[in-house]
Amino acid sequence: MKNLNVVIVGGGAGFGALLAEMAVEAGAAGIGIIDINAEGAEAALAPARAKGLKAASAACDIRTAAASQTAFSTVAAALGRVDTLINCAAVYPRRPTLGVTDEEWDLSNAINIKGTYHMMVAAIEQMRRQEPQGVVRGRIVNITSVDAFKAHPKNIHYAATKAAVVSLTRSVADHVAPDGILVNSVAPAGMATEKARALGFLDELAKASPLGRGGEPQEMAEWVLMAGGPKNTYMTGENIIVSGGYIYA
Ligand SMILES: NC(=O)c1ccc[n+]([C@@H]2O[C@H](COP(=O)([O-])OP(=O)(O)OC[C@H]3O[C@@H](n4cnc5c(N)ncnc54)[C@H](O)[C@@H]3O)[C@@H](O)[C@H]2O)c1
Repeated sequence: MKNLNVVIVGGGAGFGALLAEMAVEAGAAGIGIIDINAEGAEAALAPARAKGLKAASAACDIRTAAASQTAFSTVAAALGRVDTLINCAAVYPRRPTLGVTDEEWDLSNAINIKGTYHMMVAAIEQMRRQEPQGVVRGRIVNITSVDAFKAHPKNIHYAATKAAVVSLTRSVADHVAPDGILVNSVAPAGMATEKARALGFLDELAKASPLGRGGEPQEMAEWVLMAGGPKNTYMTGENIIVSGGYIYA
């Protein structure tokens, strides 16, 4: 991530906070965090601040376009330029397959799908105003999930939102390819973030893995940084599955 300014939406906890830390280790020039949890977002900037990098956070509920635009503009103005956007905010409550309520559908759709869309729109407007670095003007990585591709009891609405994000990734990638903006997604299998541990499904997933263990968040994050980093100059519209053989595509 050398010399890149990276904005992580949903970076106030778990996988997003880890990505912020790893981006700093990988040489990022600046980190922006957007999250509904203001305290978490500031805390996730600690590694960047410790290194004296540019760092900015904005508290935002990404369910609406106006709030998303404002938060993104605030962070982008503080950083000066945004090279990489990582969309990591999502909710994944478990519900019985035939018992998802309207409210539960609306919440998951609004955060996981619509929020991802709003942030991509804000980032693309910013990236289009920037000069390209080499052949790339900017990179976007959306976090999806293996659940987009596999029947998953108790996760039907979450799985559907992640499949929608795979679709959004392709459509947006195609639309902004002429601008030199690369848009990809990464689909991790279950990984031991605090939230996932609390939900208690990790043992079951580890047993289902041909590798005989669950993946560590770091092992998933490497692929996000690869897709969003300077080594990626030609991959766009792809979804990278990092599942240890849990699914094959
Ligand atoms: N943990 C896993 O096993 C796993 C597996 C596959 C994919 N994923 C995906 O990885 C990502 C991170 O998961 P995690 O386990 O770190 O979850 P997490 O709950 O720890 O982190 C999600 C972050 O999103 C933020 N957020 C939630 N609603 C928001 C809103 N309306 N506006 C702005 N921010 C909001 C939360 O405050 C939190 O900081 C998610 O996209 C998740 O679907 C996780």
